[in-house]
Amino acid sequence: MPDQQNLISQDILAYLKEQEEKDMLRFITCGSVDDGKSTLIGRLLWDSKLIFEDQLAALESDSKRTGTQGDDIDFALLLDGLQAEQEQGITIDVAYRFFSTDKRKFIVADTPGHEQYTRNMATGASNADVAVILVDARKGLLTQTRRHSYIVSLVGIKKVVLAVNKMDLVDYDQETFEAIKADYLDFAKDLGFDDIAVLPLSALKGENLLQATDKTSWFSGPTLMAYLESVEVSSDAGQKPFRMAVQWVNRPDLDFRGFSGTIASGSIQPGDDIVVASSGQTSKVARIVTFDGDLDIAGPGQAVTLTLADEIDISRGDMLAAADDRPDFADQFEAKLIWMHNEPLLPSRNYMIKIGSATASAQVSDLKYKVNVNTLEHIAGKTLELNEVGICNFSLDRPLPFDAYQDNPGTGNFILIDRFTNATVGAGMIDFALRRATNIHWQALDVHKDARAELKGQKPCVLWFTGLSGSGKSTIANLVEKKLHSMGRHTYTLDGDNVRHGLNRDLGFTDVDRVENIRRVGETAKLMVEAGLITMVSFISPFTSERRMARAMVETDEFIEVFVDTSLEECERRDVKGLYAKARAGELKNFTGIDSAYETPTEAEIHVNGDKTSPEDAAEEIVKILQDRGYLQL
Ligand code: ADX
Repeated sequence: MPDQQNLISQDILAYLKEQEEKDMLRFITCGSVDDGKSTLIGRLLWDSKLIFEDQLAALESDSKRTGTQGDDIDFALLLDGLQAEQEQGITIDVAYRFFSTDKRKFIVADTPGHEQYTRNMATGASNADVAVILVDARKGLLTQTRRHSYIVSLVGIKKVVLAVNKMDLVDYDQETFEAIKADYLDFAKDLGFDDIAVLPLSALKGENLLQATDKTSWFSGPTLMAYLESVEVSSDAGQKPFRMAVQWVNRPDLDFRGFSGTIASGSIQPGDDIVVASSGQTSKVARIVTFDGDLDIAGPGQAVTLTLADEIDISRGDMLAAADDRPDFADQFEAKLIWMHNEPLLPSRNYMIKIGSATASAQVSDLKYKVNVNTLEHIAGKTLELNEVGICNFSLDRPLPFDAYQDNPGTGNFILIDRFTNATVGAGMIDFALRRATNIHWQALDVHKDARAELKGQKPCVLWFTGLSGSGKSTIANLVEKKLHSMGRHTYTLDGDNVRHGLNRDLGFTDVDRVENIRRVGETAKLMVEAGLITMVSFISPFTSERRMARAMVETDEFIEVFVDTSLEECERRDVKGLYAKARAGELKNFTGIDSAYETPTEAEIHVNGDKTSPEDAAEEIVKILQDRGYLQL
């Protein structure tokens, strides 16, 4: 705007002050280049005149050279130019652009619109107040319009503009516009938007963007800019109950103990009653300490250190909350999960979940259904691939504090992290806590593990045999059990082929099923150890992650991993069950070592060279180790 330009040159301080006081609108634009998205953003930036002069000059000459608009300026080029600049350093999937008018400051998140970019869109949309969804007036609603709308609703955006663009190409026809509007309102009625504005415009001609056009005299609504400048977005985080995740406990000396974090929602004053979500202990806020001195009140987004009236036990990851409006505290919940990684979700696998500053180990205990983001249809599935969305039940190894995303986005969202690569693999929004597990209490049993072990005169443990099919695991495990049995020891053997006939008869050999196979066997082995038995487990168990999960289910010295290291060539040469031949002939899919991975163990306690050592010698060695380490007598 010219006023701004004047102010910048004449009184930069006044300009900066004015900028500071203006409120800010964050919005995301959804659509593809074909819909005119780049042109639209380019024009918003251009017309608000906060583009550097040299960029303007370059744009004018570029447009004449390469533009598609004759002598007019090609606004799409402007955007591509900015994008190239931003992409020099790192590849970014979401580009944030800043511009301002006399009334407001704006941050617009721009993401690529193709199908495979669900992940980026969700990221860009996650802190936007408004979504501008573009459609081409000639084409009406497309699959991608539905997808964009769904993702926008998924991350909780409540205000949507359907920008019916390219009206110039349909002669500003009212009927065309009304038909698209009706279609969209019908489609979006279940998406939970509070406000849908449908606007006719031509980004290319700049009509109804900043200036109203007389070509749509039948339309009485605002221009896009007027809408963006006036739409109410008073962040309601301040009205929500107080929540603050404790990022660290600040204890510089014995006299001071403060809890530092960023307020996620609500406000807080000295004297307010607060509760620690995990323990239910309550206290009052004594002081709100900041770098610039104490505050009388603090609200969302502020980083503060709270001191309390009482000495109570609080650690990093705990949540401080309003005492009269507590968050959920549960170890199971239902959530919408967006999968963000090339490796698909393996529901029974343990991932690290991070809600606020708290982490736990989490599995998808049930993938209820996937949502086709194009049609919103529910589809059955066992896994989620990159960019797919699923409704899942989660099960955590300990309860964490959270709210439903719908009630409080700041405390209702989470990410999933792969435990080994540390990659963020998924992002989720919690629907509600599941109370199932909270209603089941551990039954205290009088006869416990030690007592059972004592009666048997042995130290129970799991001997976990892992290796390729045909490596000799089961043969060795069987010999070990025979020897122990003849020594009067109490034993049991869980063997893959056998367990797959009963407990795990519903499982096949996909990665998803193998993970669940091992989870169940790990749990079973744990029960056997509690029963006091020396338990042989003989499963291929091809993945490090699940071998570690099984290991973590029992005490440290109760798990002995035995890697039966027989080369693929040797296993294939033996081919006891004829399965390698079948796999090579393509009659058996997902065969370990052929077209399904085996991750070589690196932390096995016992290593058996299956090519060279006879099963008899291996078994003898293992029994000797058990004896030497004190497992066979108490
Ligand atoms: S695991 O990978 O999930 O641990 P598990 O040990 O239970 O496998 O089962 C392996 C046994 O199933 C093999 O010894 C073999 O007899 C049989 N089997 C049948 N199909 C396959 C396959 N595709 N891959 C591996 N083993 C298979």
